[in-house]
Amino acid sequence: MFVSINQLNKQFLDKDEKPTTVLKDIDLQIEKGEFVSILGPSGCGKSTLLSIVAGLTEATSGDIIVDGTTVKKPGKDRGMVFQQAALFPWINVLENVMFPLKKEMAKEEAEAQAKKYLQMVQLGNYLNHYPHELSGGMQQRVAIARALAMNPETLLMDEPFGALDEQTRTRLHGQLEDIWLETKKTILFVTHSISESIKLSDRIIVMGTRPGIVLTDIKVDLPRPRDQHKEEMLAIEEKIMRYLKKEIDKVVSEELSHEASR
Ligand SMILES: Nc1ncnc2c1ncn2[C@@H]1O[C@H](COP(=O)(O)OP(=O)(O)OP(=O)(O)O)[C@@H](O)[C@H]1O
Ligand SMILES: [Mg+2]
Repeated sequence: MFVSINQLNKQFLDKDEKPTTVLKDIDLQIEKGEFVSILGPSGCGKSTLLSIVAGLTEATSGDIIVDGTTVKKPGKDRGMVFQQAALFPWINVLENVMFPLKKEMAKEEAEAQAKKYLQMVQLGNYLNHYPHELSGGMQQRVAIARALAMNPETLLMDEPFGALDEQTRTRLHGQLEDIWLETKKTILFVTHSISESIKLSDRIIVMGTRPGIVLTDIKVDLPRPRDQHKEEMLAIEEKIMRYLKKEIDKVVSEELSHEASR
């Protein structure tokens, strides 16, 4: 397996120094070139899981092997797009995308590569803008361009299209799918959009919460592009909705009983 997540557990200490289990016994095997989405209620540990795969957060127990190597720290084989675009505020858009590239290649090449991906996310006219001059969705597109420009073997994307309008989102779906079909990258993609996950992925991991566990692993075996297969997509959507509804109902009733006991 290209990405192998084995018996992964993560606990955080709460404000009373009491450990809370956020991820429990996560086992996930991902083949090279697979596009895997992760769906689950807010707070179930999706970002934490991605951050552990990225090597940014340490697991409490269990291990993650990517391409034969146990993950201990971040590496340029794994590109991450964070839920909130993490840009350097003191340099402009072009420099933000060039920043990691400059360590890998000559400046001219880095600039050409950065411009190519910024044009792809339709920010070719914003090269000299600073992050604070952009909308949240535009900042997110800079972060996507930066991750893609590094050309990592594995892409870890945490709700990358969450802040975008429907048209931009649809266009970027197409572009991401094209890049994936062309380069066969392994993609781990967190989203709250069931339809987005069905449109893009080979497999959908549905997570439950408190603690975060894998509820089910659904294979999406439809030809691409998938828009012609509305009925099959709808059937998968309904199946996922049933899983998620149960989890969300659970969170709501826990919150209500917590409120009542205060
Ligand atoms: N550094 C931290 N210290 C303590 N608790 C944390 C920390 N990071 C995350 N948590 C807790 O872990 C749980 C999972 O958080 P995480 O951000 O992974 O959820 P998520 O599934 O990505 O949610 P969302 O869909 O809202 O982005 C939450 O209860 C959160 O409060
Ligand atoms: Mg998150």
